[in-house]
Amino acid sequence: MKKLEKITSLNVYENSQELSISDQELLQMALEQLDAAYAPYSKFHVGAAARTSTGNLYSGCNQENASYPLCICGERVALYHAGTVEPNSPVTSVAITVRSELRAVEGIITPCGACRQVISEFEYRHKQSIRIILKADGPEIYEFESIKDLLPYDFNGDFL
Ligand code: THU
Repeated sequence: MKKLEKITSLNVYENSQELSISDQELLQMALEQLDAAYAPYSKFHVGAAARTSTGNLYSGCNQENASYPLCICGERVALYHAGTVEPNSPVTSVAITVRSELRAVEGIITPCGACRQVISEFEYRHKQSIRIILKADGPEIYEFESIKDLLPYDFNGDFL
């Protein structure tokens, strides 16, 4: 038996001022989406924004349903928004923010497994990594340089 290891990493910024202007702009769009989220059941708002290689930004937020399995996550809405309007442009970064109506949400809140798989598909499709920028209630910003750091053993089209 031998052990295989994959090391993953993330960048931690003390506050949004440490980000580039273009990332601050992306994060601002994601934060604005928190108010647009439709989350009457979980009270957990997710605002997201995706930037494509052309520099355009696409918003998204979670959309819940009384039939719970039909809920869709905010980051997936933003990615599909980008993929719908600019199918041939790689997504280069996505910002994801959260806010709960019930409690303070501190620390690092990462995308769910389904969204990791969808982000992975966008990377695979365009053969370009996507930076993932995360913010909750605290001032800190967390950045993964690729979904590979969040989903190290992805399932992708090469397997089919
Ligand atoms: N949610 C997202 O929008 N993104 C995630 O990565 C995880 C969860 C949403 C789905 C649902 O509307 C609420 O958060 C609670 O799960």
